[in-house]
Amino acid sequence: MLRQSRKLLLHHPKTTRDRVKFVGMSLASTISSLQPPLKGPAIGLRGKVVLAFEGNDSSKIGVRFDRSIPEGNDLGGRCKEGHGFFCTANSLCLDSSGGEDVDRLAINELFEVAINESKNAPLILFLKDLEKSVVGNQDAYTSLKSKLENLPDKVIVMGSHTQIDNRKEKSHAGGLLFTKFGGNHTALLDLAFPDSFGRPSDRSKETPKAMKQLSRLFPNKVTVQLPQDEALLVDWKQLLERDIETLKAQANIFSFRSVLCRVGLCCPDLETVCLKDQALTNESVEKIVGWALSHHLMHCSEAPVNDSKILISSESIYYGLSIFLGVQNESKSLKKSLKDVVTENEFEKKLLADVMPPSDIGVSFDDIGALENVKDTVKELVMLPLQRPELFCKGQLTKPCKGILLFGPPGTGKTMLAKAVATEAGANFINISMSSITSKWFGEGEKYVKAVFSLASKIAPSVIFVDEVDSMLGRRENPGEHEAMRKMKNEFMVNWDGLRTKDKERVLVLAATNRPFDLDEAVIRRLPRRLMVNLPDAPNREKILRVILAKEDLAPDVDLEAVANMTDGYSGSDIKERTLALAESSPLPTLYSSSDIRPLKMEDFRYAHEQVCASVSSESTNMNELLQWNDLYGEGGSRKKTSLSYFM
Ligand SMILES: Nc1ncnc2c1ncn2[C@@H]1O[C@H](COP(=O)(O)OP(=O)(O)OP(=O)(O)O)[C@@H](O)[C@H]1O
Ligand SMILES: [Mg+2]
Repeated sequence: MLRQSRKLLLHHPKTTRDRVKFVGMSLASTISSLQPPLKGPAIGLRGKVVLAFEGNDSSKIGVRFDRSIPEGNDLGGRCKEGHGFFCTANSLCLDSSGGEDVDRLAINELFEVAINESKNAPLILFLKDLEKSVVGNQDAYTSLKSKLENLPDKVIVMGSHTQIDNRKEKSHAGGLLFTKFGGNHTALLDLAFPDSFGRPSDRSKETPKAMKQLSRLFPNKVTVQLPQDEALLVDWKQLLERDIETLKAQANIFSFRSVLCRVGLCCPDLETVCLKDQALTNESVEKIVGWALSHHLMHCSEAPVNDSKILISSESIYYGLSIFLGVQNESKSLKKSLKDVVTENEFEKKLLADVMPPSDIGVSFDDIGALENVKDTVKELVMLPLQRPELFCKGQLTKPCKGILLFGPPGTGKTMLAKAVATEAGANFINISMSSITSKWFGEGEKYVKAVFSLASKIAPSVIFVDEVDSMLGRRENPGEHEAMRKMKNEFMVNWDGLRTKDKERVLVLAATNRPFDLDEAVIRRLPRRLMVNLPDAPNREKILRVILAKEDLAPDVDLEAVANMTDGYSGSDIKERTLALAESSPLPTLYSSSDIRPLKMEDFRYAHEQVCASVSSESTNMNELLQWNDLYGEGGSRKKTSLSYFM
């Protein structure tokens, strides 16, 4: 009904009290509106119709504009001098932005229904949050006033209002109850609760005026205070809280129902799902339903269907909900943790400053081209133990892996991979290296290592990344080795063992090196999964090129497959260097100035190819050593196969 009336309003001829907007008359006047008008209102200026004359579109209408206008008048004393102007009807359109007309209509229609109904029986009309439509809206007030004055005896009007707490921008339900008894016996019940339970509030600026007006309409007033008695007050607060919880729970059920319905699901016992401490956003509900559906599909082989909708149980919804709440707690505690970690000593404190939260690392799996197998294995080995440690606490065989070694020729993306692991697992990242020990912690390596492990478990889930692990945990038999160095290594082993015995501890040591053969045997033993990050082959080089060049503008003649083919033996880093070299040293001059940046051409790639050469030779001794080592110790190395056939 309201919508219809609103539609009507937008098209009906302008009458007094309509809000209007000046839209100008012709193209000429539109153009002139670009400059301030010499005479009359500017386009877009709003006002209210004060004088309306019957007639055609060209008849004049007196409008009181919200601002003073050039050569404006006072519409014969009907408005402030300079605010009035006579406009033609077709230069005005109804302004629906204020919503005042709708408020007025709502009040009119509400009372009309009430009056009709009261013919059958006495009626109480309750207007909630009444002040909201009266504050700053004189029309609504006038309209309400005239309605109340002409109310039949059998109707009682009560209104409530929500008091705004200025300090907290929080509102409490409560407020005023107005009653109007028929035959001019009006009564006002004041239920204005002081805000913040005890301190009377100072109301917002417009509210006092509205309150005064409302008190005039409803002079009979009863003030209801907060419960004075402590016990009653507690009860009262509890009741309020319970109401809020009920509202949240209902809102959640409603969101669930609409999302379920939209995706062709139905949960007959949805009403039993009760989540009352937060109102879920639509996005969250969609995620929960997704998890619920996967739970359902895992547990019900044949899906019951009703009305072509898949029926799922509240159990599945609860499953989805539990995952959602788990993730939510996790991210909350992660956010909190880095700031709130209580450090025990100087070492932990210094280290904490260098810890990178997952959101700051800035490398994800998508940034790494190729290396699909390594990525998959790492995901499987790292994600689950870090994110769902409870899955690994049953038998001995499902123990989470506490150490992974990434080894391979330089520049193949090992460091990058470690960073992506931390990002994707949502784990804090502690990067340690020999260089930081010698520069920042010289002579204190032992204490530093101890602090690394104690801090890592405090901020778990976390990844301790030891880059260039050969320099830090190389062979101990080296006779020239410093005593302090040996102590530090031993400390590392001891702490690492401590970590490995605690299954639920979500700390993982990730190590990277391009000289795995220099590693101490004891270290290799503690890194049970060793993944070779090898030089990419042609199809993988193409993938890396695609990732690196994803945001670049390429000319149509660029054939990445051909580029990949001409870069045999290149590492990921070489490929990256090549594109950089390309941009910096291309003989084609245009790349120097930003004004004529042009797409990269195949020719540029050929030129760069001559400038950069592979940093690792696939025939080098180092490369052979790496392959041999992989064969002996690496994942999928031939040693496993021999030992297997031996036992068989
Ligand atoms: N697979 C890849 N995808 C995308 N970029 C790569 C890839 N491999 C290497 N790069 C690029 O090369 C740079 C060097 O990689 P990274 O530092 O991870 O190599 P690394 O294996 O750790 O080398 P090193 O053994 O010398 O430490 C990265 O910053 C990245 O820009
Ligand atoms: Mg590296």
